[in-house]
Amino acid sequence: MADTYNIAVIGGGLMGAGIALVFASKGYPVKVYDVNTDVLDNLHGTILENLTLIGEDTSCIELVAAEPDFGKAVSDADFVFEAVAERLEIKRTVFAKLATDAPETAILASNTSVIPITSIAEGNPAADRIVGTHWWNPPFLVPLVEVIRAKDSADEALKATKALLDAVGKVAVFVEKDVAGFVGNRLQHALWREAIALIEDGVCDAETVDLVVKNSFGLRLPVLGPIENADLVGLDLTIDIHDNILADLNRNERAAALLRVKVEEGNLGFKTGKGLREWTPKQIADVRVGLLSYLLVATRKCSILQEMGGK
Ligand SMILES: NC(=O)c1ccc[n+]([C@@H]2O[C@H](COP(=O)([O-])OP(=O)(O)OC[C@H]3O[C@@H](n4cnc5c(N)ncnc54)[C@H](O)[C@@H]3O)[C@@H](O)[C@H]2O)c1
Repeated sequence: MADTYNIAVIGGGLMGAGIALVFASKGYPVKVYDVNTDVLDNLHGTILENLTLIGEDTSCIELVAAEPDFGKAVSDADFVFEAVAERLEIKRTVFAKLATDAPETAILASNTSVIPITSIAEGNPAADRIVGTHWWNPPFLVPLVEVIRAKDSADEALKATKALLDAVGKVAVFVEKDVAGFVGNRLQHALWREAIALIEDGVCDAETVDLVVKNSFGLRLPVLGPIENADLVGLDLTIDIHDNILADLNRNERAAALLRVKVEEGNLGFKTGKGLREWTPKQIADVRVGLLSYLLVATRKCSILQEMGGK
């Protein structure tokens, strides 16, 4: 296997620009294509701002090319990461073009949040080279990438993708079944469903939900996953707890009515200053800065601990 690869990113928005930063900062040449030329014009500025934010050397920006021609962006790519809008038809069209314009050996990865990779790859002549890579925002700070096996993904394509992600320092895990939401978003939205139901049912107010999570099991999560926790407390106790609680948990199959009411009222969250909770501009800024600062410290601490052989 080669030591370096040509990377192409399709869609240079929030995720695409972040993914480009990850590869460029590790020395890989990256070409980014977007339908919106404004996005391409701003690409270097966005990446430079983020490199500065995380304290990385900005000289790697030379490795990033904003390419307005789709064919040229992918013609010599070894790996293509698609990060366009979350619409099945748009993604299918992009992958159909990749099948003709990218080299026959290129691995083609979709960063969809929830669309099954198999439906993106269905009928595509390059289906064996199409895999899912589900990154998390911001891609240059959150370590995980889920590598998803679609119906026709070849083992070699999955292995090569994980090897590349490992090489740039990501925590890449295989997801063996192409289920909606993969692993991370299934877990996350199981929690959000219950959190919203607790407010809807009047069990506590919205602020209390966040206080409970952040001051209890949320504190432990970075060092104690749910499976570790189940083993820690004992599977016998876990059975007793589940037999008492599971039937009571929310099982909505659609988004909660409370969410629909809020949206109809024009209360979208940070975007409008009011959602499930109310937000002043200062509180919004504090949440954003707090999150980035926390992620910076947490990921630095993780890599220092890993270097020391701990975890
Ligand atoms: N935002 C997140 O937290 C997050 C996390 C994981 C995965 N994702 C997924 O990543 C993908 C991109 O999300 P985002 O948040 O970066 O969105 P975004 O809106 O910031 O960026 C999408 C970009 O795709 C471009 N685009 C649209 N159609 C295109 C086409 N046909 N060809 C080329 N470019 C096209 C747009 O101009 C835009 O710049 C989505 O599938 C999303 O679900 C997002």
